[in-house]
Amino acid sequence: MGRAGRSAVAERLPKLRTDLGLDFVVINGENASGGRGLTGAHARLLFEAGADAITLGDHAFDQKDMLQYAETEPRIIRPLNFAKTAPGKGARVLNATNGRRVLVTQVLGQVFMKRAYDDPFSAVDTALKTHGGSVQAVLVDMHCEATSEKMAMGHWCDGRASLVVGTHTHIPTGDAQILPGGTGYLTDAGMCGDYDSVIGMQKLEPLRRFITGMPKDRFEPAAGPATLSGAFVETDDRTGKAKSITMVRTGGRLQESLPNV
Ligand SMILES: [Fe+2]
Repeated sequence: MGRAGRSAVAERLPKLRTDLGLDFVVINGENASGGRGLTGAHARLLFEAGADAITLGDHAFDQKDMLQYAETEPRIIRPLNFAKTAPGKGARVLNATNGRRVLVTQVLGQVFMKRAYDDPFSAVDTALKTHGGSVQAVLVDMHCEATSEKMAMGHWCDGRASLVVGTHTHIPTGDAQILPGGTGYLTDAGMCGDYDSVIGMQKLEPLRRFITGMPKDRFEPAAGPATLSGAFVETDDRTGKAKSITMVRTGGRLQESLPNV
């Protein structure tokens, strides 16, 4: 989320990669540029910090150069069920360490979203059937507002994905678990950003709009010290299922939480 979030990732991810022995890192980057979308330059910065893939979301193309960048950079994953004419791809098989392959896919939910997106469940089903058999791990990013819809997606993919993780609400949830079929699940990974804010934006303008119903200024990302927030998952190469899932929080205002490895 904005400059604060980018800085937290750039400062903290390289050490996390080493300390936790990370084989594959996915960042949701759709609010990394001024809180709206992602520029190619900022995507490169996140890749340099240690991301292996970047997912987008409903703000996928708010920064116009992403229209072209998504076509040329295979590590960018836009929502599978975005507009049919959207550039880029919503599912990719990418390389992790030691020759292992990871399917990364993202879908948008339908509940409380700005637009009526196509059915995310059938879209994910097709991606899993197309690519799921040839990889060691599968990550599904469920980008939506409703916790119920995210949990439903977790169960829809249970046993077929290594991890179903929610993004978009910017608030980390406390329900990390392994579902009965072996899929790691977390309703929302939370944001990398300044939590002295309203979901990453400076507080004053959102408060004004909630209280008066009238806008006055633009939303601007909060610029204080940021917390890096996410999830750490260990998977079984043979089955693709999760062996453990732990929430990760470091820096900024939120209480520190790091896996013991
Ligand atoms: Fe979003």
